[in-house]
Amino acid sequence: KRSTLAALSLAIATTLGAGLAAADPIVIKFAHVVAENTPKGLMADRFKELVAERLGDKVVVEVYPNSQLFGDDKVLEVMQLGDVQLAAPALSKFSRYTDVLALYDLPFLFEDLHAVDRFQQSEAGQGLLKSMEKKGLIGLGYLHNGMKQLSSSQPLRVPEDAKGLKFRIMASEVLEAQFEALDAAPIKKPFSEVFTLLQTKAIDGQENTWSNMYSKKFFEVQPYITESNHGLLDYLVVTSTEFWNGLPDDVRDTLKAALDESIAYGNRIAYDKEAEDRQAIIDSKRTEVIELTPEERAQWVQAMRPVWKQFEDEIGADLIDAAYAANQ
Ligand code: LMR
Repeated sequence: KRSTLAALSLAIATTLGAGLAAADPIVIKFAHVVAENTPKGLMADRFKELVAERLGDKVVVEVYPNSQLFGDDKVLEVMQLGDVQLAAPALSKFSRYTDVLALYDLPFLFEDLHAVDRFQQSEAGQGLLKSMEKKGLIGLGYLHNGMKQLSSSQPLRVPEDAKGLKFRIMASEVLEAQFEALDAAPIKKPFSEVFTLLQTKAIDGQENTWSNMYSKKFFEVQPYITESNHGLLDYLVVTSTEFWNGLPDDVRDTLKAALDESIAYGNRIAYDKEAEDRQAIIDSKRTEVIELTPEERAQWVQAMRPVWKQFEDEIGADLIDAAYAANQ
């Protein structure tokens, strides 16, 4: 009897003790591949700060930049396993999960980031955030980086100049088709390898934003950058449905508000960096920036535009029309 009593009081004491101890904070690992001084890097750091301010010891955000934890080829897979809670891969990197986001890779679809904003804020644009829910991923918002430019070991003025050259691309079939339309050779490689591939001349060129080319020093190993603004590099801030829906309602609401604020902050930086990092690259004198005449630009449009037709069925003609209409 005495031992039953002792066991009972021990059980009560243990239960009480556990109840009194503070619950472990929820850890949000945010993994990304770019440098810290970029729209995405700064957005992630701002989110971490806001969460620390507002959710104190309930939630801790850990940011892993520069592909430290995972590259974009792995991050969505491990997110579904619960090893990472937040990421913001380029919209080009979701093709294993949905066809429709390929829209954003179509060459010469958006004239500038203002048009991108108009489309993303529309009903059609917002609807795309939910395109992967059945696959266990939720888009929490769009984040900008900027318009893409072409860098190369050779001067690129007209599409024929790209013929036969090897270009690194993100893992996207649209981007593959875009370079094939130029009779160039697209090669899918992770972002973390691009600098070395360029430096060792294993590839001839790549397409990226001013911000990525500046922060990762691509301009130091590429003698020419053509200011083509031919495509968009934007991100989807993404989490797993299971993680997000499993959060207490108040925590989820506070996190969403902090995310919205940090995304807005990142987007302002993206606009600034399009101009600032472009200028810094020009000032470095390490590379020649080629500005296209309207006639030259029209040739690039003509060469790449057939890609739209190739992907029209997968993406949807209505969606393409809606996105293009955002230019007006
Ligand atoms: C790339 O792979 O070139 C980009 O997606 C990197 C990034 O996240 O901006």
